[in-house]
Amino acid sequence: MARFRSLFHHFFSFLFFFFFFFFTTFVISLSSSNLESDFFITDSDSEVLLLHQDYSPPAPPPPPPHAPSVYCTDDLGGVGSLDTTCKIVADLNLTRDVYIAGKGNFYILPGVRFHCPILGCSIALNISGNFSLGEHSSIVAGNFELAAYSASFFSGSAVNTTGWAGDPPAQTSGTPQGVDGAGGGHGGRGASCVVEEGKLPEDIWGGDAYSWSSLQEPSSYGSKGGSTSKEVDYGGGGGGQVKLVIKELLEVNGSLLADGADGGTKGGGGSGGSIHIIAHKMTGGGRISACGGNGFGGGGGGRVAVDVFSRHDEPKIYVHGGISYGCPENAGAAGTLYDDVPRSLTVDNFNLSTDTETVLLEFPYQPLWTNVYIKNCARASVPLLWSRVQVQGQISLLCGGVLSFGLAHYATSEFELLAEELLMSESIIKVYGALRMTVKMFLMWNSKMLIDGGEDLTVATSWLEASNLVVLKESSVIHSNANLGVHGQGLLNLSGPGDKIQAQRLVLSLFYSINVGPGSVLRSPLEDASSYAITPKLYCEHQDCPIELLHPPEDCNVNSSLSFTLQICRVEDITVEGLIKGSVVHFNRARTISVQSSGIISASGMGCIGGVGRGNFLDNELPCELGSGSGNESSTDSTAGGGVIVMGSMEHPLSSLSVECAVSL
Ligand SMILES: *[C@@H]1O[C@H](CO)[C@@H](O)[C@H](O)[C@H]1NC(C)=O
Ligand SMILES: *[C@@H]1O[C@H](CO)[C@@H](O)[C@H](O)[C@H]1NC(C)=O
Ligand SMILES: *[C@@H]1O[C@H](CO)[C@@H](O)[C@H](O)[C@H]1NC(C)=O
Ligand SMILES: *[C@@H]1O[C@H](CO)[C@@H](O)[C@H](O)[C@H]1NC(C)=O
Ligand SMILES: *[C@@H]1O[C@H](CO)[C@@H](O)[C@H](O)[C@H]1NC(C)=O
Ligand SMILES: *[C@@H]1O[C@H](CO)[C@@H](O)[C@H](O)[C@H]1NC(C)=O
Ligand SMILES: *[C@@H]1O[C@H](CO)[C@@H](O)[C@H](O)[C@H]1NC(C)=O
Ligand SMILES: *[C@@H]1O[C@H](CO)[C@@H](O)[C@H](O)[C@H]1NC(C)=O
Ligand SMILES: *[C@@H]1O[C@H](CO)[C@@H](O)[C@H](O)[C@H]1NC(C)=O
Repeated sequence: MARFRSLFHHFFSFLFFFFFFFFTTFVISLSSSNLESDFFITDSDSEVLLLHQDYSPPAPPPPPPHAPSVYCTDDLGGVGSLDTTCKIVADLNLTRDVYIAGKGNFYILPGVRFHCPILGCSIALNISGNFSLGEHSSIVAGNFELAAYSASFFSGSAVNTTGWAGDPPAQTSGTPQGVDGAGGGHGGRGASCVVEEGKLPEDIWGGDAYSWSSLQEPSSYGSKGGSTSKEVDYGGGGGGQVKLVIKELLEVNGSLLADGADGGTKGGGGSGGSIHIIAHKMTGGGRISACGGNGFGGGGGGRVAVDVFSRHDEPKIYVHGGISYGCPENAGAAGTLYDDVPRSLTVDNFNLSTDTETVLLEFPYQPLWTNVYIKNCARASVPLLWSRVQVQGQISLLCGGVLSFGLAHYATSEFELLAEELLMSESIIKVYGALRMTVKMFLMWNSKMLIDGGEDLTVATSWLEASNLVVLKESSVIHSNANLGVHGQGLLNLSGPGDKIQAQRLVLSLFYSINVGPGSVLRSPLEDASSYAITPKLYCEHQDCPIELLHPPEDCNVNSSLSFTLQICRVEDITVEGLIKGSVVHFNRARTISVQSSGIISASGMGCIGGVGRGNFLDNELPCELGSGSGNESSTDSTAGGGVIVMGSMEHPLSSLSVECAVSL
């Protein structure tokens, strides 16, 4: 697998250079694609392009050394000196970048405006003493960097880089092309209000994401939003950059802002910029924000990273997308918030519903991240083929979070998800291709895992392994239109009404115990089975019993050639209070099966379709034939006969079967 992936990697890097030229063309054609509705991504070349957007451009060259420091009195009109205490007492409009260094303190007194209103203008301070920004005073610039012993941002004060971004990194496409008024992208993609036939809402976006590889130390500007006019650029500016390196205490009662600017109703919102905070301790009730700007299409959120040894919930940190005036249900995508102390990544869209995605690329191996949270309507996607999402602790999807693997219509690859726990609450995981999941605990609360195996038979089988516990609650569903194996050493509990695991072919294996609670369902094949590429073939034509029903394979494998559709393999105890339904249901090496009064194991109407000549008599002492239906197989009004339920095998008979209610054929 690993070798395979690295092969792919090389393949892609090769293709990337090869297609770089085409890629440029691709962006241009996308921009004009609203006019040319015949532009569809159908050939594999454009697929490669789509998948190899340049999200992680090479690191920018090191910044040029700072110019010599300015003077407190002469250059800044302040009082005192930078080696003792410099106080800024009156408003100041800077006209160029400044570097302020000294061994003393630097105070901006209350109500003072210390501004450099030029795109990308940089104010850098490196002092050995303390910094303070007084009540209701403000710093406006494109880039604000501060290194100090301690720093205080009093209430009502603001470091405001909103909309003052300089140029985003080269080779990125954060600013959307065309005149759709789409939002800019950075940590998340910008929203586009365009609707295209044949494309899913998440396949359409404005500015793209970039700088994933530096999300732990973000230092990229946000991007401008698009415009709705060819003549006038209405797009909101991108968010700037803020970097604070504080040795001791950082008190934030004011605001630290790197938001994208508002594009109004005629322009897309700019994307959020970057905020990077390193401190020993942080307190205060202020606001730290690198959100997308509002606009016709909302801008994507930016990137924030905090490395603070002692930090509580405050100040609040926001990186959500901007509101889309043109399509309110589709805000800009959330940006990324990385917390370096627990090493966790949060993607949170502040309950702004969206179809626009936050792109997750390669996860680091050394060291692994601890937790990933995707919540409050954030929509994260792992678009690159053969990707692995691995963390040491939890992956949590909460409150409308969506995580998708692969791209709709390109179910050609396998994805890996590895963690200690996968927790889902009112959220969705979508997989286009196959998933290999390895966790200890998998808990679902009113959530869905939807696996679209597509038509590629080589990646048709998904494996979900949860060694200790799998619990589905409050109408949670695991659904696959291909083969699905679920295994673990502990308990699988479908707690109650609406909880379902269904697939075209389903194998549940190795659990100590499986509980199918009242109103819950295990089912395979799917209800509209024949409409999928992977359809289990029933042995309707055979005269004998398929060998694996009498002598089942030891390995609880699942593949497309096996004749059962639903197998429960090497599970000690099975309690059925809900419904188990399949064409060929096979209990292999179970110790006890207890069917409670509300429980049903059924193969009714799941046998062969068509009537004539199908009720085979077998020269076998066991009943093994599929029931036949009535009518003509190729006509729609035909009915299916009963299926087969096999419990135990010649080698491993069942030790206990208690039936209070129905086992129906
Ligand atoms: C700074 O520029 C703003 C906007 O141009 C202006 O309103 C303000 O008076 C200027 N302040 C100073 C101190 O020059
Ligand atoms: C601040 O200046 C000192 C030298 O005076 C230097 O060692 C340090 O790296 C500087 N810090 C930043 C963040 O530029
Ligand atoms: C700087 O702030 C710290 C508190 O974080 C304080 O103990 C120290 O005295 C301050 N230094 C100066 C020179 O004011
Ligand atoms: C910040 O607010 C808290 C609570 O209102 C207050 O105790 C603290 O002194 C304030 N600090 C600054 C620097 O404004
Ligand atoms: C920051 O700047 C933006 C754009 O200039 C402005 O709309 C916003 O009100 C400012 N925020 C604060 C808190 O000063
Ligand atoms: C988002 O919605 C959830 C559930 O409706 C709520 O608990 C949470 O407080 C909301 N969060 C925000 C930021 O509005
Ligand atoms: C399964 O979940 C139901 C509902 O939460 C609970 O009552 C039951 O005890 C659980 N079953 C097992 C075997 O833990
Ligand atoms: C499917 O699994 C069975 C049992 O492990 C094995 O005998 C058979 O060869 C497999 N078929 C394919 C196509 O892998
Ligand atoms: C089923 O119907 C098709 C046409 O709809 C016909 O060609 C075929 O002979 C019929 N088969 C049987 C077994 O009646």
